[in-house]
Amino acid sequence: MTARTGTIAFVGQSRDLPRLAALAAVRAPGWRIVDADTLGDPATVDVVVSWRPAPGSLDPFSNLKLVHSIGAGADNILEYAGLPDVHVCRIVDPDLADSMAQYVLWGALHFHRQFDAMLRDQAGKTWRRVSQRPASSCTVGIMGVGVLGAHVATLLAHAGFRVSGWSRSAKTLPNVAMYHGDAQRDAFLAQVDTLVCLLPLTPDTAGILDRTVFDALPHGATLIHCGRGAHLNATDIQSALRSGQLRGALVDVFPQEPLPATDPLWDAPNLIVTPHIAAVADDDAIVGQVLDNVRRLDAGLPLHAAVDPARGY
Ligand code: NAP
Ligand code: GLV
Repeated sequence: MTARTGTIAFVGQSRDLPRLAALAAVRAPGWRIVDADTLGDPATVDVVVSWRPAPGSLDPFSNLKLVHSIGAGADNILEYAGLPDVHVCRIVDPDLADSMAQYVLWGALHFHRQFDAMLRDQAGKTWRRVSQRPASSCTVGIMGVGVLGAHVATLLAHAGFRVSGWSRSAKTLPNVAMYHGDAQRDAFLAQVDTLVCLLPLTPDTAGILDRTVFDALPHGATLIHCGRGAHLNATDIQSALRSGQLRGALVDVFPQEPLPATDPLWDAPNLIVTPHIAAVADDDAIVGQVLDNVRRLDAGLPLHAAVDPARGY
């Protein structure tokens, strides 16, 4: 491992950071790697590895060059008030993309094969052979067809579902009917049986899962939400579930996490709560990518999975 002069600081609002710092120190012997307890002189820090840096916590790092998220999303970094004009990177990892595809496939099958109805029947000891239809009769529509959305779309298409996608800019993907931009949003929603949210959280997408989106879906559609909690209007999803406009929802991310025990979403009809586990990056993958990006930074090479702060993702 070549020597470097700067310090890498693992600091932020995640209990994973000290553990990741310890792993990075093992994998990059000789590099100065610190966590919140061993920080030392902030002026030596040129790389911060973080999740939701606390307000003001990045300000003392006067020689910062890179802030690296430990997750696939960079919203947790970009929301920092007064973020300096430095590189921002996020995690892009094939195993994480596979996990997300598995989670969404499970949800799509749960609703399409009517396991939700069968679980309710079992609770009432009812033997009822609910109708079964081919996957090709079900359209899964994915909002956000980036690294994760495209991988999910490909797996679902292989599983036989009709798949459509909605992105900000025009793009093509084999076996996926693509829509883009606000002008095509309602046409996209109108043909979707199961809507999947895999958007990044940006000023344009905050609160997007609201009544206008639910009402634009066919009556009885279902939702799989694995984007960010702030995409979701909690009042509107409860109304949509109560009215049957949404037949069911699988929700992994919430406006407040952990979801408080008193939150009505726990008891919303036909809503499955999972605790933000749809896709979690492995420690080795996170540390490997961070160290690789630090080497690239030092060598003046383009960084892997850099985000565009102006675009917001
Ligand atoms: P990505 O590669 O940056 O893709 C983002 C996609 O969203 C792109 O297709 C982009 O369109 C589209 N998009 C952005 N703004 C839009 C807008 N205003 N209207 C329409 N489309 C828009 O992101 P990713 O790696 O796939 O990750 C997506 C998100 O998943 C992350 O940001 C994170 O919030 C979430 N996530 C959740 C978990 C979990 O466990 N629940 C795990 C990992 C990630 P273009 O293609 O035109 O740019
Ligand atoms: C999880 O939500 C992530 O951004 O990796």
